[in-house]
Formats: sequence, C-alpha cells, structure tokens
Amino acid sequence: MHQSRHDGHVHYGAHLKSEWLLDPHVAYLNHGTVGAPPIRVLNERKRLLDEIEHQPAQFLLRELADVDASGAPAVPRMRVAAERVAQFVGAKVDNLGFVDNATTGVNAVLRSFPFTAGDELLYTSLGYGGVNHAVAYAAERSGATTRVVTLPQPGAAASDYVAAIEEQLRAQTRMLIVDHITSQTALVLPLREIATLCHQHGVLVLADGAHAPGAIDLDVESLGVDWYAANLHKWAFTPRSSGFLWAAPEHHATLRPTVISWGWKNGLAAEFDLLGTRDPTPWLVSGFAIDLYEEWGGHEICQYNHSLVFTQAKRLAEAWGTSFATPEELIGTMAYVSLPDAAGSSRADAVGLQAALLAEDHIEVPVFADEGRLTCRLSAQIYNDARDFDRLMDAVIRRCEA
Ligand SMILES: Cc1ncc(COP(=O)(O)O)c(C=O)c1O
Repeated sequence: MHQSRHDGHVHYGAHLKSEWLLDPHVAYLNHGTVGAPPIRVLNERKRLLDEIEHQPAQFLLRELADVDASGAPAVPRMRVAAERVAQFVGAKVDNLGFVDNATTGVNAVLRSFPFTAGDELLYTSLGYGGVNHAVAYAAERSGATTRVVTLPQPGAAASDYVAAIEEQLRAQTRMLIVDHITSQTALVLPLREIATLCHQHGVLVLADGAHAPGAIDLDVESLGVDWYAANLHKWAFTPRSSGFLWAAPEHHATLRPTVISWGWKNGLAAEFDLLGTRDPTPWLVSGFAIDLYEEWGGHEICQYNHSLVFTQAKRLAEAWGTSFATPEELIGTMAYVSLPDAAGSSRADAVGLQAALLAEDHIEVPVFADEGRLTCRLSAQIYNDARDFDRLMDAVIRRCEA
C-alpha cells in the first residue's frame, strides 16, 4: 500500500486516486451515481474470471450454488460471499439473496407480492424514477392502486418526513415503497421511524437502500422493514452489478426472484443464487471488496466522506449565494446544493451546464433543474478532497459571471 499510514489510519485525499482507474484530470464528484471499484478489486475479479475459465463446469455448475438445498456443495461460493456481505450490512445470511442491483431487488418484491384489487401501493415524491415504474407495473397487473406522498424538499427536519408519510396512510394502504437515501436529493430518511409508524398502521415497508451500503453504517435487521433492496456497487467498492435483497423471514414463502430457475421454492438462497448461466464475479468478489473497504478505514470512510461533503456543501452554497439547510443527520456521503440563479433554471440549462463542466472544466457532477432552479448533487469519496470542490465552486462562479 503506497498511501501513508499514521496511527493505523489511511490518509484520504487526492493521492488515493491512483487506487482507481478514474481519469486523474477529472474532479470526480459523482461517485454515487454508478460507483467506481478500486483497481485492486478489479484485479481480484479478473483473477476470479480466470479461475472460472480454468474449469467452467466445475465452478459454475458444481461449486457455485446449492439449488436444491441439499447441502451440496457443502460451501457454495455464492453463500460464502453472502456470509461476508450479511456480516457487513447487519443481516442474517439466510435472509439475504444476491440480485443484480437495487432495481432488480425492488422488482422481485413488487412482482411476486400477492397484491389484490383494492390494495394501495404508496410511494414518495423523492423516489427513484425506475423504481416508481416498477410500482406502477405491479399495481397495473394486480388491480391495485398507487398514490404518491409528497415529501418535503431538503431543509426539513427528520420528523417532517415521518409526519408527511403518516398523514397519507390509509386503511387500504398495503405497502410503502421508500428510499433509505433519496437519489437526487441525497437525504438519509429516518427509515427506522418510518417502518415503526407503517407497522403500527398495518402497512408493509419495502426499503430502497440503493445508496446505503458503504455510505452509512448499516444494520439491516434492526431497521424493522419488510424488505431491503440495495447496491454494493455504489459505495461498497464492489464492481457492477452487485446488489442484494434482504427479506424478513415471514415474506420468504411468497418472494420470487425476477427470473425463475432451478432453485424455485427451495428457499431464498437457492432461488436467488443461480438465475441461469451468468457471470457471478461481481458478487463473489464482494468479500474482497468489503475487506479492502474495512482495511482502508470502514467507518472512518463514512465519516470522512460525510464530513467532507457536508462542509463543502455549506461552503459552496455560501460562495454561490444560495442556502444549504439540510440537517446534518440527514446527510450521508452526498449533498444536494442549489446553484446561483444566474446558472439558469430550465432542464436545458442543467444539461448544458453539466456537459460544459465536464468538457471544459473537467468536473463530473450531476446538475438538475428542480422547482425552477438549478441544483447539483455532490458526492464525496476518499479520493476527493477540498480542492475538487474548490474547482467546482470557482467554475460555477466564473460561468455565472461570464
Ligand atoms: C434510490 C435509488 N434507487 C434505485 C437506484 C437504481 O440503482 P441500480 O441502477 O443500481 O438498480 C438508484 C440509483 O441511483 C437510486 O438512487
């Protein structure tokens, strides 16, 4: 390891960029969007790919998964990986199955849950568009209805999000689909409180934790939700596509993966570990990726990223003459910041600014048009430091003055 260590700590900042394949000239402030695995993880994945090719039949048919839940192979490779992931996210391994990504996990739940006509699926105004489509699809097929809860924009207190949901729960509400960390607005919602509230009203909770593993400390079993779909490839250093779906034991019997294969009705592990022939290395390398994440600091990574993005969000808003009022407890490793009025207001302005920042200023950051003004979502990862944010701050000011 070439980075210096003092007191057992890895020093974070720009020098760590060499641990990634990321373009060294680009200030990469968009780690959250699709993640970025460190080179060491990519190399380990290549090693696994070679190992598979040495004896593909043995590896993929006889070592990978226990599809008939017979106990053979004694230690299916997918379960070894699942054990490590389960430990990392605070889950019991028997409640955890691998999926391609959070979208697939959410789809598995929504497409197998026995909704009936008259059920209502409640989702939120801050939810992820692709997931909202899956909600609509599940309702359309079953004769259920959908309704959206309008959640406060960033700046509100945690309790305001719980109150907004409480106000919209109805006798017919069957399931709430809610983010743990919202996508565009980057809010860490009070999921435990939301789940408690919903269960008091007899409403099931499907949590979309796409951004959570590796971004915040996670203890899935204690959240009190019914299902938790998440990605490892965004913040937990794994390659794409590697997600997992956690389900409370009482839901295993009705839960099906999006693809039915050999493990049908043989338990969650058998059903999810083998969905036909495919590349299993994104999941199999997850233990290596999590080991590296922990070697580089684990919780300290969350703390560094959190404090960097929170500090810089406030600083940028001040420099841009906008405000950043999101309470710190609702911030993980991303922050949603308003741009100056002079930056524009339309979707075309947002697209143009994002493209210009990348092409001319070599800054990767997502820009949105939201309620008549432009905003950006900042991500902080351990290869970032204040200088990346300085570049964004100055580039936006320069463009607004031009
Ligand atoms: C809240 C949320 N849900 C779902 C997704 C989709 O993730 P994936 O494409 O890995 O399924 C995202 C991606 O940013 C997200 O932020």
